[in-house]
Amino acid sequence: MSPEIELDHWHDRYAKRTSRMRTSAVRDLMAVADQPDIIALSGGMPETGVFEETLRPIAEELLVDEAARTLQYGPSQGIVTLREQICDLMFEEGMHVHPDDVLITVGAQQALEFLGKVLLDDGDTVVIEEPSYVGALNAFLSYEAQFETIPTDVSGMDIDALDERLGDMDTPPKFVYVIPNFQNPGGATLSLERRQQLIDVVNKHDVILVEDNPYGRLRFKGDTLPTLRSLDDSVVYLGTFSKIFSPGVRVGWIVAPPALRDRLLHAKQAADLCSSMLNQRLVEEFFKRGLFEPHLKKLIEIYSGRAEVMAKALKKHFPAEATWSDSEGGFFVWAKLPEYLDTTEMLAEALAKKVAYVPGSGFFPDGRGKEAIRLSFGAVGHDKIRQGISVLGEVIKGQMELYESLKF
Ligand SMILES: Cc1ncc(COP(=O)(O)O)c(C=O)c1O
Repeated sequence: MSPEIELDHWHDRYAKRTSRMRTSAVRDLMAVADQPDIIALSGGMPETGVFEETLRPIAEELLVDEAARTLQYGPSQGIVTLREQICDLMFEEGMHVHPDDVLITVGAQQALEFLGKVLLDDGDTVVIEEPSYVGALNAFLSYEAQFETIPTDVSGMDIDALDERLGDMDTPPKFVYVIPNFQNPGGATLSLERRQQLIDVVNKHDVILVEDNPYGRLRFKGDTLPTLRSLDDSVVYLGTFSKIFSPGVRVGWIVAPPALRDRLLHAKQAADLCSSMLNQRLVEEFFKRGLFEPHLKKLIEIYSGRAEVMAKALKKHFPAEATWSDSEGGFFVWAKLPEYLDTTEMLAEALAKKVAYVPGSGFFPDGRGKEAIRLSFGAVGHDKIRQGISVLGEVIKGQMELYESLKF
């Protein structure tokens, strides 16, 4: 009897596709980060401690006056008034969308999963930035995707390289997936010139473009750039309230042309019938009562301050050999350490010293990026950021000294 059979009596019953499913380093670390004495520079968690009393009257109304509706099933596509509000929000970013084209999902993550379900067959290719969001990679891997990765720099994806790669591929990819603003994990923002170029290239090669934009409204410096969807109506757009309101409500959305939207709706019906009415109504009331604008302003101020504190701490405590991103928004910093370091191995020491980060390799489909780390200041105060970076700096320098001492 093989060890696998001894360990798992059902080893031969699983669907073939499960062999490519993998755990997310970020989600695994979330359990650790939840411990009160850990400085969690790991999860992409936004600040949720600033609502004060604003939600109390809404929650009371929804759970008392409107309980019969909010505790009921709802339409699979999502509440129409919330979809209208999403269209208003998108209009503020230059996008003209009809509520019929919006599907409300359980976070943008569910939209990613549905894209996999609806567009990917075994072995289909998805083109992604290098590095890219681990949750997207895992969603597409569940549908047995292959990846083509395109290099990125401070201005985002290298579109000339994309053009060349698309030209070389015998079978075209199913779609190109990009996070154009304050990218997770790299922090890069796709430049205006490249946005236009990207639209031209995907149109030239007739490939679907998927724009995932959870952080676009969280800009704290530089000029706002047009979304890809505002440049071309055929772009499939993913939005979420997670980073600008609350990830706990799990309300996101996807905008797609009608035929694709219908298939996504079928996927939604099969997955969970509908999103939580209570959570959708909470989001809707938050916006309707004019609470969003001041909240967003507060978040941007907070992240701007934390970005500055982290940049100073990195400069003070990280070794001269390290480099890191300087994002204009969002809350991620992508740091590259000397290439001989393995940040997955180094994590145990950092955790023992009560600091969590995400090792870089999880953001590459082929496990590269072992010398990189992703840091997040989303839900961490100034003192904790300073302390966390100081500890990490010590851990990194210690590892470098160890490497030097073993070299001969
Ligand atoms: C790029 C990107 N897309 C999608 C998501 C999923 O967000 P949610 O499901 O909370 O809306 C995240 C979360 O970190 C993200 O960074």
